[in-house]
Amino acid sequence: MSERKINIIGAGLAGLSAAIHLAKQGYACRLISLQPSERAQSVMAEGGINAALNTMGENDEPLNHYNDTIRGGVNLADENAVWNLTSNAPKMVEWLCSLGVPFNMNGQSLVLRNFGGQKKKRTAYSKSSTGKILMSSLIDEARKYEKQGLIKRYPHHRFSSLMIENSTCKGVNIVDLYTGNAGTLYGAVILCSGGMNSLFPEMTTGTAVNTGDVTATVFFQGVALANLEFIQYHPTTAAIPGKRCLVTEAARGEGGRLFVFRNGEPWYFMEEKYPELKNLMPRDVVSREIVIAVNTESCSKQCYLDMTHIEEDTWKNKLSDLREECIRLLATDPKTQYLEISPGIHYFMGGIYVDEKHQTSLNGLFAAGECACQYHGANRLGGNSMLGAIFGGSVAAVSAAAFADTIECIPSKWNENNRSALLYDYAVTHEVADILKASLGIFRNEAELAKALEALNVLDSSNYSDNDKKRLLLAKAIVISALNRKESRGAHTRLDYPERDDEHFRKTTVVKYDGNDITLSMRDIAKRRELQ
Ligand code: FUM
Repeated sequence: MSERKINIIGAGLAGLSAAIHLAKQGYACRLISLQPSERAQSVMAEGGINAALNTMGENDEPLNHYNDTIRGGVNLADENAVWNLTSNAPKMVEWLCSLGVPFNMNGQSLVLRNFGGQKKKRTAYSKSSTGKILMSSLIDEARKYEKQGLIKRYPHHRFSSLMIENSTCKGVNIVDLYTGNAGTLYGAVILCSGGMNSLFPEMTTGTAVNTGDVTATVFFQGVALANLEFIQYHPTTAAIPGKRCLVTEAARGEGGRLFVFRNGEPWYFMEEKYPELKNLMPRDVVSREIVIAVNTESCSKQCYLDMTHIEEDTWKNKLSDLREECIRLLATDPKTQYLEISPGIHYFMGGIYVDEKHQTSLNGLFAAGECACQYHGANRLGGNSMLGAIFGGSVAAVSAAAFADTIECIPSKWNENNRSALLYDYAVTHEVADILKASLGIFRNEAELAKALEALNVLDSSNYSDNDKKRLLLAKAIVISALNRKESRGAHTRLDYPERDDEHFRKTTVVKYDGNDITLSMRDIAKRRELQ
């Protein structure tokens, strides 16, 4: 077995994929996570995973998937990264099939469903619990390598900071949440730590365990972040205690229709305004239209999802788990009742800056999955996140392995019983959360964003914990990024700059912290090589 020189933070789809792909190549790694994989946010993913497998007789091919992804992200994604993602997607899904993932099938052929922003049926699925099913298969696959000693798990361990020397990431500091022991684990680091949910308490469909604290900490340590202003509101969510409940896009993929009552009659506004893709326009468009519809004169203030016409066979074979969840969590049976929905935060397109190889701005540090930024531009297509996580993990694994080949193996160090390291607050302060909530909605404007930045700048943070100080810094970086983008694109809609401005803003927003100030720069988009 090779020496253990690679540390992965996060054991969801991206982390597991990175670990398995490393192990397949004979590289030993550590898989470090707050929760065991079974409780990672990835198990909550529902609708499916995109790949142009062309099993539905629609002449699909990866180039179509590429074009839809670039268009859905409003020309802001890294074109080479998206090309790699979409051209490898069929191979990735075939690999998942080889692991025994029970996708919905028609004989020997995968059934694909429609998903938002895509002109072909391209989303492979397992009813509407695709994330849970994919995770089970990857957990099983990882066990094989755990047995061989190639993957060593560290569940219930919290990331504290990177070990940085001579502008290179040399390892990671972590804390054992049961004992309080603090460890320094040397080697390359792959961050797969998910989105920034804890900055938006009660507003996200994701787990609050994906705090964004890893992102905040590495930003504090000087690692560049990108495109933080692009926060995805999923059109169909419902309030439940403490969070938003996702009503999967598969509901609309299988025929669900959005409407508001206008003068007492259902108005299917998406179908009227967007005759081609109708209810399956990209999420940024649908979310905006819902807000506009419920604020239109003579219209109900509530938007509904109508699935009552969906046939029994579809309920049984494709959406049974969605129905059960709606009955259990929302006390509504979507087979016979309209669901009351409204947009809720679902995904962060921005995060740790990475290139197409998943290399961050810091040598020796890599990132994949929702914590990283590059595949989704200004708006992610549904079904591309599980793909991005699994494929991204595999690419980060190759890059980290190449780096690990160049470094020495240094034994880990552990300090025992550092009980104070256990004192940790997993939620952002309400002051910061309230400011973000007020300024980073679906529609934004200069006055509110400037007010938010001013409020964050004057907050008395003298009593804040170190973590809260880092969260505050991250919050400022998000608002600064949103203030700077004086145009409307994807999930960033500025009422004061309603047009898209390619000349000035078809660029990646990059923010860095130098220990005193946050600096922002706009970087050109990587253009697809074979088209240059
Ligand atoms: O609606 C959904 O099932 C979400 C899928 C996704 O975000 O990819």
